[in-house]
Amino acid sequence: MKKMYMLFILFVLISTSVIFTGTTKSAEKEEFSMKSKTPAKALVVIYSYTGNTKAVADDIVKRFKADTVIVKAKEYDGFMGGTKASINAWNEVTITDIKPETVDMSQYNLIFLGSPIWWFRPAVPLWSFVEKNDFKEKRVILFNTFNSRFKSEYIDKFKKLVREKGGQFHDHIYVRRGRWYAQLNGEELLEKFNKILDEKEDEYSGIISQGHK
Ligand SMILES: Cc1cc2nc3c(=O)[nH]c(=O)nc-3n(C[C@H](O)[C@H](O)[C@H](O)COP(=O)(O)O)c2cc1C
Repeated sequence: MKKMYMLFILFVLISTSVIFTGTTKSAEKEEFSMKSKTPAKALVVIYSYTGNTKAVADDIVKRFKADTVIVKAKEYDGFMGGTKASINAWNEVTITDIKPETVDMSQYNLIFLGSPIWWFRPAVPLWSFVEKNDFKEKRVILFNTFNSRFKSEYIDKFKKLVREKGGQFHDHIYVRRGRWYAQLNGEELLEKFNKILDEKEDEYSGIISQGHK
């Protein structure tokens, strides 16, 4: 009976990883870090599996003239990657091998951390990034894309981790993409995210220019 139950759970995890992604393709290979032309005061750290969160991250980078760090997690690449992502997220894992592991954030006043939602919580590689880095005196904004929902208890846990690492959690912004026929296309996703950034622009720009309070 127990074996049947375990098989059922495994089946759910595998099938949901396919349903959630719609495709098992990883985000395209790119450089790990990109510097803005002028010395930036904001940094965008991004983990994206199928490119949606990366697309909205690019908007933040442009708007706030931020530097970018793209986090890669090899455990979730390749044939069984989506299934491993699903199982680890389900088990509330916070550590996986990531590249880069650490980033010198001393020049930045505001750090944006972005990822998809996996099993109601930010994706595992983003937790790993926070675990492995020093956020002392940094303001942090979490941004997510997802299909249907996240759970606020996990966002609270994420905030707690940021605080334990010395950071000040400032905001959580996100776009719900919807499911199946009701899902936003790329253009609609960016439009929705841009509306949020329009509302937040003055607030975030103030932090970027003034730094920690
Ligand atoms: C393993 C896995 C678990 C997911 N779990 C959720 C979930 O709990 N809630 C949700 O709304 N979407 C969930 N999704 C969907 C993604 O959050 C959504 O497609 C997101 O926009 C993908 O962002 P990306 O393209 O940057 O990877 C899941 C996707 C995967 C791969």
